[in-house]
Amino acid sequence: MTNHLERSFSIGGVHIAQPLALAPMAEVTDTYYRSLIKELGGVGLVVSEFISAEGLTRKNDRSHQMLAFNENERPVAIQIYGGDPERMDDAAAIVEAQGVDIVDVNMGCPVKKIVNSGAGSALLKDFDKAARVVEKIKAAVKIPVTVKVRKGWESNDVIPLLKRFEDIGVAAIAIHGRTRSEAYTGASDWNYIARVKSELTIPVWGNGDVKTAADAIRMFETTGVDGVMIGRAALHNPFIFRDIHAYVRGERMIENEVERRIDAMQKYLSKIDAAPQIDRWKLHKARTVIGWFSKGIPHGKDIRMGLQDIACVADAQRLLELARTRMNAYAA
Ligand SMILES: Cc1cc2nc3c(=O)[nH]c(=O)nc-3n(C[C@H](O)[C@H](O)[C@H](O)COP(=O)(O)O)c2cc1C
Repeated sequence: MTNHLERSFSIGGVHIAQPLALAPMAEVTDTYYRSLIKELGGVGLVVSEFISAEGLTRKNDRSHQMLAFNENERPVAIQIYGGDPERMDDAAAIVEAQGVDIVDVNMGCPVKKIVNSGAGSALLKDFDKAARVVEKIKAAVKIPVTVKVRKGWESNDVIPLLKRFEDIGVAAIAIHGRTRSEAYTGASDWNYIARVKSELTIPVWGNGDVKTAADAIRMFETTGVDGVMIGRAALHNPFIFRDIHAYVRGERMIENEVERRIDAMQKYLSKIDAAPQIDRWKLHKARTVIGWFSKGIPHGKDIRMGLQDIACVADAQRLLELARTRMNAYAA
């Protein structure tokens, strides 16, 4: 069997040692989440949640806080979104000044509020504007510029636009095989992803509906992409990237090892506890992220019920210790 994971590649000179990426997810892939995923292993690139170009250029505190990253995340991409080409280039320059490896442009977000401002997947309706956005960003920064797109707005074909991006000097494309109007319904069109890969010469990340290690390998095999990008599956199984390597090597996957999950959850809690954000933010993060990570494991329901009563991150840590003790008592 070909080992797809042994094929490293370069995005505009940035070495991607493992062809698996954590997809950008708003309110999820902040520096704490990304560095946890990176520490758990197996991932070659992590991408930030999208950050508003408007917010960055107007010096909005929250947007600037979202630029934070940890050295252990490298290579790391920061994603920006916006509908105004005159702001996107300045926002990209702010991202570059932060010292990250790659700036990624969001052309996939289907959310009404975003597309109504001409940003996200709305750019796929106007190829000239989309090309202008990318051209201006390319002229403003030296770090590699990548673009994440959907298959189209409705039924239009974005491949001609992607070829323009390639001519402008975009270093890689991530393609989610759904149109904007499909939002998250139906299935990601892997045949279309294969077409994108075959028509471009720059690296292509395939994205959409990789839920298991076997799915990831199937995506490599059926589409020929350079790398596989994973979003939602990493919400429930932070070990997914590691597990894909284990699967290929015929080793045991750790997806369902409760002890390792609890370790990962505690690691995450320690990270947010040390963050400069306010306590209310920490509590919210503890509840949501531990809520996801505890799904599908024995005693996970007890953990999620307990989350309703926590008042601080230390309570969440105690809850996980209790779950660990219970689990060990059960196993003895
Ligand atoms: C909670 C959530 C937030 C997301 N936020 C972003 C985002 O900020 N930028 C982006 O390009 N895509 C975003 N996406 C889309 C994902 O990056 C990805 O394209 C999509 O979920 C399909 O991949 P998957 O099936 O592996 O989840 C988001 C998806 C989810 C579920």
